[in-house]
Amino acid sequence: MNDHHSHAYVEDRSPGTGRLRPRAAFASDLPVLRLDGDWRFRLASGLDDLTADFAAPDFDDGAWDLLAVPSCWQMTGLPGEPRYGAPAYTNIHYPFPVDPPRVPRHNPTGEYRREFDVPDAFPAAAAVLRFEGVDSAFAVWLNGIRLGDGKGSRLTTEFDAAGALRPGRNVLAVRVHQWSSGSYLEDQDMWWLSGIFRSVSVAARGIEDFFVHAGYDHESGRGTLAVDVTGPGQVSLTVPELGITGADPAGPHVIDGVRPWSDENPRLYQGELVAETGERIPLRIGFRTVAVVDGVLTVNGRPISLRGVNRHEWHPLTGRTLTGDTMLADVLLMKRHNVNAVRTSHYPPDHRFLDLCDEHGLWVFCEGDLETHGFEPGGWHRNPSDDPAWREAYLDRAVRLVERDKNHPSVIVWSLGNESGTGANLAAAAAWIRQRDDSRLIHYEGDWASCSYVDLYSRMYIGVDELAAVGRGQEAPTADPADDARRRSLPAVLCEYGHAMGNGPGGLSDYQQVIEAHRRLAGGFIWEWIDHGILRHAGQDDHRSFYAYGGDFGEEVHDGNFVADGLLFPDRTPSPGLVEYKKVIEPVRIRIDPAACRITVLNLHHVRHSGYLDFRWTVEDGGEPVGSGSLAVPATAPGATSTVEWPADLTAALDAARKDGSGHEVWLTVTAVLAADETWAAAGHEVAWGQGLVVPAAASSPFPPAAAIAHDGYVALGSARFDTRSGLLVRLGDLELDGPQLDVWRAPTDNDLLGAFAEPQITAWRTAGLDRMHHEVLRVAPDESGLTVTARLAAAGSSSGLHVVYRWTACDGPDAGQARLRLETTVTPDGAWPVPLPRLGVAMSLPGTDAEVEWFGPGPGEAYRDSRTAARVGRYRSTVAAMQTPYVRPQENGNRHRVRSARITAPGGTLLITGAPVIDLTVRPWSTRALAAAAHQHDLAPDGRLHLHLDHAHHGLGSAACGPGPSAPDVLAAVTAAFAVEFSTTR
Ligand code: GAL
Repeated sequence: MNDHHSHAYVEDRSPGTGRLRPRAAFASDLPVLRLDGDWRFRLASGLDDLTADFAAPDFDDGAWDLLAVPSCWQMTGLPGEPRYGAPAYTNIHYPFPVDPPRVPRHNPTGEYRREFDVPDAFPAAAAVLRFEGVDSAFAVWLNGIRLGDGKGSRLTTEFDAAGALRPGRNVLAVRVHQWSSGSYLEDQDMWWLSGIFRSVSVAARGIEDFFVHAGYDHESGRGTLAVDVTGPGQVSLTVPELGITGADPAGPHVIDGVRPWSDENPRLYQGELVAETGERIPLRIGFRTVAVVDGVLTVNGRPISLRGVNRHEWHPLTGRTLTGDTMLADVLLMKRHNVNAVRTSHYPPDHRFLDLCDEHGLWVFCEGDLETHGFEPGGWHRNPSDDPAWREAYLDRAVRLVERDKNHPSVIVWSLGNESGTGANLAAAAAWIRQRDDSRLIHYEGDWASCSYVDLYSRMYIGVDELAAVGRGQEAPTADPADDARRRSLPAVLCEYGHAMGNGPGGLSDYQQVIEAHRRLAGGFIWEWIDHGILRHAGQDDHRSFYAYGGDFGEEVHDGNFVADGLLFPDRTPSPGLVEYKKVIEPVRIRIDPAACRITVLNLHHVRHSGYLDFRWTVEDGGEPVGSGSLAVPATAPGATSTVEWPADLTAALDAARKDGSGHEVWLTVTAVLAADETWAAAGHEVAWGQGLVVPAAASSPFPPAAAIAHDGYVALGSARFDTRSGLLVRLGDLELDGPQLDVWRAPTDNDLLGAFAEPQITAWRTAGLDRMHHEVLRVAPDESGLTVTARLAAAGSSSGLHVVYRWTACDGPDAGQARLRLETTVTPDGAWPVPLPRLGVAMSLPGTDAEVEWFGPGPGEAYRDSRTAARVGRYRSTVAAMQTPYVRPQENGNRHRVRSARITAPGGTLLITGAPVIDLTVRPWSTRALAAAAHQHDLAPDGRLHLHLDHAHHGLGSAACGPGPSAPDVLAAVTAAFAVEFSTTR
């Protein structure tokens, strides 16, 4: 038996021993034995608790558990209790003392065993044993022979199996350590998970490796193809579509009139490498050339604009182990939401994901498995990035990244890693990549201050003003003039922006405007794609499920729900943030000019003409469709604009709507949908839309006021009843009500609560007492034409307050049984108000746990003042239950912005609300207090009342959890304000 008692590899800095040279991930028709499935498993508590002879072929593992490979062992048992350890979440901090390269003695270690049969026909004498992902360090024995050990969790490791593999029964034994020196290099913001989490196989060894070089000359339209093949023996290249048959792969083959690869036209030429042994390897060749031209990021001679997301692999039940279907779901969701780029933050994904990017068309920033952020709190003291002892480990990660993924046309940029400070090891990794592959650019955000070894000036979370300065080339200078000059010659990207945690991000359209205004700005990537919530049951016998986040597994240090900051909810339902992003980045922009009776279509594509889209128009009168048709838009070239006059049928529909005298708003909506099926969506899928108000609403009829009459204990005004003392509306017709009264508080969003770069907004709000305001009624005064209630809203201990005057008027209304009641609220700050208000509106409640809600105004989803681009005016029907947005940590949500009118059909009656002219509307089955107190969705239960918020305005959402707060126009300052709303009921 070989040495399996030495565990030095766990803590030494070596990236591994006994491994084969890294190479591309590719399929071959040589036989492969897939070893995924149930393995025998035992979890040892540390190196002192290992099973002595576990690697011996005859070791009896019959009593051991069965564990699926691939899987993350901490995810086993979910959504019930985790069976092996538990997931733990930290963003920056290591979950153990920082003492590199040492790791804790308590080091959970998985012992895995798997028996498998090798058929006689399998070429056992020339085979490799391949691990596609093992977290974080492991050692391998085949039939009792130690093959080696490895680190670099999200990279492939191969061992030479020849000599150990034999026909018939084989036993593979693998020891996997949760912590290793490698953990210091894998401090990405994510759950700490362990195990053999990607596939394992034994593959016959044939062609060793190859590197496809496929460039495109946009001036001549010529493609150049050369494939460097590492033997053994003679290998030929065939690409039938290009007329290449049995040729020398090295060529170079120059092909006229080739169609280039891009995100929009991901043209792949199918080919194959054929070895003299008969082995065949399929190739998918995409021709493209990446270049920086005059400081602009171009592909195939044209500037590209990255409308991207940061994706790191996630599934709420399996963690970082994903099926092909989940990867495909991600790619399709991205494409369907107009996303054209993905940064594989912060490690190389399962290589099949990159195949999908090649196939469906996504630009990829392919990132190395590297982050040492946990050294930052210690001032980067002992940071591996600048310590020669770690140089080999850094180079190893860069080499394995590039070698594995080098044949993907979608990969246009290599990224060294993330948040690892700066240092010679990063520079060395960049230098190695540059000499190995000069066809792509090199990215690493951490080098932004000097940009001495990167090709892109990359920033994260800067505000729009700074971004605009970068766009103009006016960023603050670097220390070194040479670096400074170089940096100013580089294109700039936002490798992370728009932190999508909870309700938000706000302000995406501001970013997009700046990006589109400056050629230097190559776009960016939202942080991040998906919320990393873990599906759990509420209790052993309580199978209500919820999404767990940091701290829910009793971690000693953790970062709470900072792990839930994606555009998708954990179950991959798009969040309002993704719906907003889709609209903000739409690749054609449709503008409607009602005055000129024209529609303009601006094509923002990189290479695609607009001809693949069908344009359709719809006219809606008060939200009801009254006409629709198709719109002939000339095929518009990328960068060009077409203007279309309104066609006759559209004009006729509008004329009819104008004449019908309904007095409603008439809107024209134009959509651009796929004319034919694409690989990523079916014909009819909507890509972009534009909307214009063609006929504004008629002014509402004047209000003949009724007198308010004081009775014993109540005041009557039309069909409304008010409590004499509180001045609150308690009844309207038959409907029992409670309120409305001024409300300035909201259940804090994550962006309200956290502040990565500034004091969180919540601090000032709490200091001002905005979460504990008292509503003091000063006067309830009925008169001949209505009722005036005056009050003051203020917090205990504070001399500042808000004076509020509620002026109620009523009339009997045009229909019998329907009375109109109008509320005008005037708010005047009193004393010093240096803090913005979370919201400004009135709150009330009515009986019920759910209700149908129909409204006319923007929708269908929630919208806030700085995240409202995706909401379009229409008539929508929903329910209170469906109008709640289930953010992983409950918080303010569900606002319908600038609603014109709404009808709430509750068990106790129907309430009609009309904005005068518009009002923000939120209805929920629980109070703000309950919403704010809930840690998870299952903590919320309807309390028997429907809580209604009618808001004049909200404070913007911003992105302060990690980035800037709302921009100045989206700050809700406490200034004098007046707003009005009307109520009526029907039985
Ligand atoms: C960035 C980091 C990401 C993530 C994000 C906050 O600084 O690169 O990995 O932590 O902040 O969610």
